[in-house]
Amino acid sequence: MSDQVIIFDTTMRDGEQSPGASMTLEEKLELARLLEDMKVDVIEAGFPIASQGDFDAVQAVARIIKDSTICGLSRAGPKDIERCFEAIRPAPRRRIHTFISTSPIHMKHKLRMEPDAVLEAIHASVSLARNLTDDVEWSAEDATRTERDFLARAVEAAIRAGATTINLPDTVGYSFPDEYAAMFADVIVRVPGADKVIFSAHCHNDLGLAVANSLAALKGGARQIECAVNGLGERAGNAALEEIVMALRVRGDGMPFTTGIDSTRLTQASKMVSRITGFPVQYNKAIVGKNAFAHESGIHQDGMLKHAQTYEIMTPEDVGQGGTNLVMGKHSGRNAFRDKLVQLGYELSDNAFQDAFTRFKDLADRKKHVYDDDIVALVDDAAAHVDDTIKVVRLRIVAGTEGPQTAEIDLDLDGTPAWTTQRGNGPVDAIFNAISTLVPHTAVLDLYQVHAVTEGTDAQAEVSVRLTENGRTVAGRAADADTLVASAKAYVAALNRLRAKRQRGADAQAG
Ligand code: KIV
Ligand code: ZN
Repeated sequence: MSDQVIIFDTTMRDGEQSPGASMTLEEKLELARLLEDMKVDVIEAGFPIASQGDFDAVQAVARIIKDSTICGLSRAGPKDIERCFEAIRPAPRRRIHTFISTSPIHMKHKLRMEPDAVLEAIHASVSLARNLTDDVEWSAEDATRTERDFLARAVEAAIRAGATTINLPDTVGYSFPDEYAAMFADVIVRVPGADKVIFSAHCHNDLGLAVANSLAALKGGARQIECAVNGLGERAGNAALEEIVMALRVRGDGMPFTTGIDSTRLTQASKMVSRITGFPVQYNKAIVGKNAFAHESGIHQDGMLKHAQTYEIMTPEDVGQGGTNLVMGKHSGRNAFRDKLVQLGYELSDNAFQDAFTRFKDLADRKKHVYDDDIVALVDDAAAHVDDTIKVVRLRIVAGTEGPQTAEIDLDLDGTPAWTTQRGNGPVDAIFNAISTLVPHTAVLDLYQVHAVTEGTDAQAEVSVRLTENGRTVAGRAADADTLVASAKAYVAALNRLRAKRQRGADAQAG
């Protein structure tokens, strides 16, 4: 059995199913390019039957990605599978991933199907998918709560029908590592033909065991791991891609497996996913958290100065955390800025470069030291707002101990200027009231969060806002040296996304 582990990224499918984590087509393309550069083997780009938007995004990704396999998810019905194939068709390497539940609780209450009917559906769905493409993955949803005999019969049916990858997900994040490993080992010895297919792990993190379970699956015989950047995914999320990759790399002694992933892109991928979704990365997050390589206590710092390996099992450079370098100030020129962007992994068009340079100069005028993280926040912020049709033009705040706090704001609404002054219980409340007056909506604010991009009182503030309206959740994020301006821009960014989502919903109904 090979010791090469296939990394299957589901950030754009399972990750996007996380409430509020939806991504636009352009964002999916941007992420797909980075995943391909990072050498991800399989990119699950979406669930094409779910909506026209999902279909278009999968198809667009399939058109531009050449090296990674592009995968689409589908249920067991023929319409799902055919639609999925249409979406992935342009990709040179393409995979249909079809699934059906096999646990008693899912079959009885969700599918309302008898076990024999499920076996027939497996045969029919995998056969149809195999007629369309050679690379077919079949998943036994809720495998870890499935009776073992039935699971073995279901896997056998899928292999007989032509599945090339068999995924046994811990859909509800219920398993322990030893149980999960044993399930793979057992199914692999029992099922005829199991040695001809790749087994795959797909773990949810409800008990915080997704990464441990995924690694255990390798010991049981799996050779593909399904994971997501920053552990994004349904509920508590999926196994974190960066943790899987680095665990295998650092502990090759205990787990002799390799992946093809370029680990130096992990931090960039984490930041990109965080920026796109508006989900902040927790400071102490393994591998990509801001504090993952920070040493605070005197004893640790002393050890680090004497020998880095006293407290570091990998280096920040291994995962692309270059640290916060002092880079430039207001005297830095265009060429130095261009070099810095290249070093940070950005390739901007002339217009985008000009815009970024103007914003950099503006920031350098207001902030003494400009760090790498400032530049990343600035460029990502510009990219995130290019399609916005509502824009913040001007903001004035009256705040302090003597209320009322007041926000006076000018917005550009599809090219038409709009202005108002509103009060609030504090300046942020006043800003949000003012914006809601000019852009009426019924969304509820689920999250308002501020974090400093770098240290110091002049640090840029990065603000995340999450809104929900009629079951639609959207996130907005913005960075600015002024926390209140960043708050206004983040709120407006979320409203732009809400508008786009409402529009997509209306288009889907009309179509
Ligand atoms: O968690 C799960 O079971 C899934 C399947 C669709 C693979 O996401
Ligand atoms: Zn899942």
